[in-house]
Amino acid sequence: MTESPDTAEVPAPPARTADWWREAVIYQVYPRSFADANGDGMGDLPGIRSRLPYLRDLGVDAVWLSPFYSSPQADAGYDVADYRVVDPMFGTLDDAVGLIADAHHYGLRIIVDLVPNHCSDQHEWFQRALSEGPGSRLRERFHFRDGKGEHGEVPPNDWESIFGGPAWTRTKNSDGTPGQWYLHLFAPEQPDFNWDHAAVRDEFATILRFWLDLDVDGFRIDVAHGMVKAAGLPDLGSLEQTKLLGNNATPSFDQDGVHEIYRSWHTILEEYDGQRIGVAEAWAPTLARTANYVRADELHQAFNFAYLATSWQANDLLSVIDDTLDAMRPVGAPATWVLSNHDVTRHTTRFANPPGLGTQIRTPGDPELGLQRARAASLLMLALPGSAYVYQGEELGLPDVTDLPDEVRQDPAYFRAAGQDGYRDGCRVPIPWTTTGPSYGFGTGGSWLPQPEAWASLSVEAQTGQAGSTLEMYRSALAVRSAHPALGAADNLRWCDSAQDVLVFERALDGGPVFTCTVNLTGAPITLTPPGRLLLASASVSLGPDHVVLPSDATAWWTTG
Ligand code: NOJ
Repeated sequence: MTESPDTAEVPAPPARTADWWREAVIYQVYPRSFADANGDGMGDLPGIRSRLPYLRDLGVDAVWLSPFYSSPQADAGYDVADYRVVDPMFGTLDDAVGLIADAHHYGLRIIVDLVPNHCSDQHEWFQRALSEGPGSRLRERFHFRDGKGEHGEVPPNDWESIFGGPAWTRTKNSDGTPGQWYLHLFAPEQPDFNWDHAAVRDEFATILRFWLDLDVDGFRIDVAHGMVKAAGLPDLGSLEQTKLLGNNATPSFDQDGVHEIYRSWHTILEEYDGQRIGVAEAWAPTLARTANYVRADELHQAFNFAYLATSWQANDLLSVIDDTLDAMRPVGAPATWVLSNHDVTRHTTRFANPPGLGTQIRTPGDPELGLQRARAASLLMLALPGSAYVYQGEELGLPDVTDLPDEVRQDPAYFRAAGQDGYRDGCRVPIPWTTTGPSYGFGTGGSWLPQPEAWASLSVEAQTGQAGSTLEMYRSALAVRSAHPALGAADNLRWCDSAQDVLVFERALDGGPVFTCTVNLTGAPITLTPPGRLLLASASVSLGPDHVVLPSDATAWWTTG
């Protein structure tokens, strides 16, 4: 299964071409759940390295790796204890260097995750801040405060943790008496850095350079909208902190001061050859606010969470596509499109359920309908101008695992919210590679979260070479994108007149032919005059002499060329 880069037929390493990221398809690898080389049930870097040929053959341009750094794993690695060390559960720094080199050899770029809003409570600075006690200079690098109330027993303000409960935890003094409080917008094991402190800024500039020197092509920046807090940490009052999209800016998120950090990072990225990029994970309230993160002298891309949160409804999709393009155009940044990631219910399961349930859903809904819609949604996404993100396993049409036993769950939000929320483990179940074997080829041991038996038939092995499989549909779609770079690159989407709940848009391709994308959201089959030759469809299309029937919840691609 493993293909050595020394012997394989491989494309030339990625040219350090201008603006490669504007139309890139970027594949998210969640290291815990991609491939396990040492059989301990947990994915690792050597496992990812052995599967790079799969990613090359899939046709993606770049790979984003979720965190693999030294971490006690209180939040699956988003609690970093040492930003320059690979956690032994994932391998070694040599493995990371080898993975980056192999990826480049296969023509793939590597984006690593950077977690600058908070660290682990085991980080050396935080441990020293705790042990040195109130007045320690190290405490200034975090947000330590005395409590309110007669005995300091009330948290310093009313902020809530995104994972549930207060955003403050009280420390103990060395004599065991209750001490100061510290801020954590996420779990208590994730203390927030104080970005007003020069040492924090300097440290992250050094961390960026450390990974750039190891030749990474960019960074996905975790909680990119959180690092700067409103001066004085004022109360939230009536604002709802945990509802980010569509909210007003809160004192803890999307503060204007954060942009100065990105301007300084832009300068660092520019010091290196080959278009190294920064991608903002910024849950900003509006697309216009999201665009601020990708102004010409800041980051390069921002995840389009407004798109991710849009339900499978024609009007909503049309609006969010237009709003996105309109918001990005003035700042000259590419639009991005994303349907799934490691924090939300996979779109196969979201679309299997009625709209309006949000991005964390606990019910399987109608899985067949969900898959049909997910495939249609993926072809719609891949026909849009800009860059697209694919979350590992979506190319297999994996659903969320909605019936994980509570005792295997690890999402800290599940425990903080007493089981009321925090169902992210369902999208993190290790992916199936083969139809048999103890973990369907994920590794030789088990898997840290149990995989459903039905996943044998969704495995890479089962779908490879199967006409019409979801995997082959993705491969074909990415091949079309790479044959026609204008599909991703050109900002030339034009909506065509269409029946209600049918989305039709055209894109002029390089050299003259016109590409058309048709999406049927009517809930019933529709009959159309074909706008060209059928390139690809998410479901079987019946072709007549001068008409075609497109099933419901299906997308078709056409070309006049
Ligand atoms: C966003 C990450 O994607 C998520 O997994 C994590 O829990 C939070 N940020 C906190 O780091």
